[in-house]
Amino acid sequence: MATIQRYLSAAAVAEAAAQFFAQKAQEAIAAQGRFTVALSGGSTPKAMFTLLAQAPFAEQVDWPKVHIFWGDERTVPPDHPDSNYKMAAEALLKSVPLNPANVHRMEGELDPVEAAVRYEDVVRRELGDSPRFDLILLGMGDDGHTASLFPGTAALDETTRLVVANWVEKLNTWRITLSRTVLNNAANIVFLVVGEAKAAVLLDVVNGPYQPEVYPSQFIEPTKGTLIWMVDEAAASLL
Ligand code: 6PG
Repeated sequence: MATIQRYLSAAAVAEAAAQFFAQKAQEAIAAQGRFTVALSGGSTPKAMFTLLAQAPFAEQVDWPKVHIFWGDERTVPPDHPDSNYKMAAEALLKSVPLNPANVHRMEGELDPVEAAVRYEDVVRRELGDSPRFDLILLGMGDDGHTASLFPGTAALDETTRLVVANWVEKLNTWRITLSRTVLNNAANIVFLVVGEAKAAVLLDVVNGPYQPEVYPSQFIEPTKGTLIWMVDEAAASLL
């Protein structure tokens, strides 16, 4: 069951998401001694990461017990401006006392098929064969894609592999992404969606007919977890 939480601004979405991250980290660490989270790229997560790196949130999280993963990555090296890892590293990871051994990036600089295989090995090693992340952060593109599950792409049909290389024709590039099986097995999924460019697609995804090949975000339905859409008024303006 999805919950839609509306906020007045993109900044308020980022703050709510930072608060949710800190709360879920505390709960998971109290219950099982660690917190596993998959990050996304995008501008709203960046604002959230920046907040998490500062008071009051930074002090609320027991960072050495946080295990960082990614939901998707671009096929670029980790120091490239398009790298999701680089964005998170600069906005958050370098500012908090994480154990470097607990930061698991997708290797966008490798052949994407090999990078996906290697990342699947990492995920299986750290989380087992049916990985259940404590939290997965997702964004949604204005074409309805999420992570790097783009409309009409092969990765949408992948339900066995945990991590896949996905050719995205319209961007003329490969991406590396968690499969929807892994996404939907998470304990908590938070979509961060802001801006009026997302309003029409958000309406279709949330209230329109089920057509996930067209709007892959509709595939996101956690099997035994919670799904929260954190949206600003601009994105929610047509709901
Ligand atoms: C990526 C992301 C992608 C992103 C959406 C929304 O690597 O590009 O993981 O799925 O979340 O494109 O991005 P914005 O929030 O910046 O619009």
